[in-house]
Amino acid sequence: MTSSTDASPLSDLSTEELRALATAQRDAHAAHRAKGATLDLTRGKPSAAQLDLSDALLRLPTTTTDRSGTDVRNYGGLRGLVELREIFAELLRVDTEQLIAGGNSSLTIMRDVLVDLLLFGGVDSPRPWSQEEKVTFICPVPGYDRHFGLLAELGIEMVTVPMTDDGPDAEAVARIAAEDPSVKGMWIVPTYANPTGAVCSQEVADRLASMPTAAPDFKIFWDNAYAVHHLSEQEAKSADIISLTSASEHPHRAFVFASTSKVTYAGGGVAFLASSSEQIEWYLAHLGKGSIGPDKVNHLRHAEFFGDAEGVLAHMRRHREILAPKFAEVERVLGERLGGRGVATWNSPTGGYFVNLDVLPGTASRVVALAKEAGLSLTPAGASFPYGKDPQDTNIRLAPTMPPLSELTEAMEIVATCVLLAAAEKLSGDTAKE
Ligand SMILES: Cc1ncc(COP(=O)(O)O)c(C=O)c1O
Repeated sequence: MTSSTDASPLSDLSTEELRALATAQRDAHAAHRAKGATLDLTRGKPSAAQLDLSDALLRLPTTTTDRSGTDVRNYGGLRGLVELREIFAELLRVDTEQLIAGGNSSLTIMRDVLVDLLLFGGVDSPRPWSQEEKVTFICPVPGYDRHFGLLAELGIEMVTVPMTDDGPDAEAVARIAAEDPSVKGMWIVPTYANPTGAVCSQEVADRLASMPTAAPDFKIFWDNAYAVHHLSEQEAKSADIISLTSASEHPHRAFVFASTSKVTYAGGGVAFLASSSEQIEWYLAHLGKGSIGPDKVNHLRHAEFFGDAEGVLAHMRRHREILAPKFAEVERVLGERLGGRGVATWNSPTGGYFVNLDVLPGTASRVVALAKEAGLSLTPAGASFPYGKDPQDTNIRLAPTMPPLSELTEAMEIVATCVLLAAAEKLSGDTAKE
């Protein structure tokens, strides 16, 4: 005999048992609501404890000149400080000459590159993208909401492909890119993807680098935002997309983006761009019309702070000490409350900033609404899809880095309660009740 308190799959429960389960979850929901807490699992921000790890930056740099004797307080040096570029070139596995250090946001560089492609065309474009009848991007889903927002604002259409455990579905990408000349590019977060945590395999990267495309100037926007953000000792190594493209017939296919937003300060870090030498010159030529040089004081401060590439990795291990217990707590609550119930699946990321939760199709928006009532803000359902529309209404992105551990436990209890309540309502055919 099954009771609603068992950890049985909900599909095995009778309507009466589902209603009993819903009642129990509604009581738990009311109890959370009565506490009047304000909890937030929306954005992937570093916690204050993580930011504290970089506070030595506030007392750096110790000098005003770089290695070559240039005064970093003055204009100039559009490529960024060479000693900082050397450190990140090693980590991103690119040539220092093919890497630029810029301002504090890689998203801004992504926007710059897209706007330049639209206004001027790339080094291998027959014409500016804005003169094409239409421009389409391939978007692996679920993906990063701001990537999609950027394309939507610029009038670039989006076609989705599934994200797999090895990166984007390469077969689907290759087919779409080969057939349609309006398909000019794709997004990919290759390491610990936002939000699935997937790591793009060398095989998938190789396929993307070498596949024939109908557009002669197809671009891979390789957003390696989480390149060094390991949560375990099994540190994933990003595929070397620049070497792969330079060895292919499409040497200008990849733009690589990264930043220290989640290494040092999210608002005061340094962003990077790598690409073929020609494409770097192309980018600098346009950038140079709007900038006389980046914040080299910040570059020098970062170079002194890290020392070398190993310094960055050692620093990231300190982040891991703060973050790994939070991700373990998410896993614990989900496992204990939802394991075996057949109404949710989730990933166990080995790096990055997110946990990807898939709930019973048709209930994600309801879960988010219920959580809000109980005092917990979740990323809007559908946010990880173009135009905010998840066709299955199933995906929820959890961002556990920001809250302290004690708040995280409470937040995850609310998530589990809402997932069970929404599922029980749906499966019993009952409409949403207070
Ligand atoms: C995949 C991805 N790219 C880029 C960013 C933002 O990077 P930045 O702070 O360098 O603009 C984020 C932040 O959440 C992200 O998840």
